[in-house]
Amino acid sequence: MSKRLFAAIALVAASWAADSSVAQEADAAAGERLFRQRCGACHQIETARNGVGPHLQDVAGRAAGSVGGYNYSPALRASGITWTPETLETYLANPTAMVRGTRMVQRFNNADERAAIIRFLGIRQ
Ligand code: HEC
Repeated sequence: MSKRLFAAIALVAASWAADSSVAQEADAAAGERLFRQRCGACHQIETARNGVGPHLQDVAGRAAGSVGGYNYSPALRASGITWTPETLETYLANPTAMVRGTRMVQRFNNADERAAIIRFLGIRQ
């Protein structure tokens, strides 16, 4: 076994022993990557800048349609939704079914990917 490989294994073993956050970190990294791939073309999260869609900084707990300077659909603005893991799950699975008239029309069909992205959005607040 190479020294470097041994060191890597020892490091992983040590961090597992210290706490079990390794899996959580891997999950957060996957969520971040998926966010960039699936949402990043339209949504910023590193900065509070609106693009095709509103920025998603601090989206967890935010009222739908409430980012200043973004031109929301009247439907989303009037929806009365607060963004929680549950409402995000429903919206991402089928936005137009939840909010008729919303301008975000993409459905995200992979439940595991949705869950990872939603956890990432929660972590980022
Ligand atoms: C093709 C562009 C596009 C993609 C890709 C996209 N969105 Fe959107 N999103 C929008 C638009 C446009 C709106 C505004 C909808 C409206 O005003 O009805 C929006 C709105 C939202 C909102 C409501 C925000 C608020 O302030 O109320 C959330 C949450 C959201 N998107 C999450 C996501 C996530 C998570 C992904 C990736 C899985 C994603 N979106 C992918 C265009 C997109």
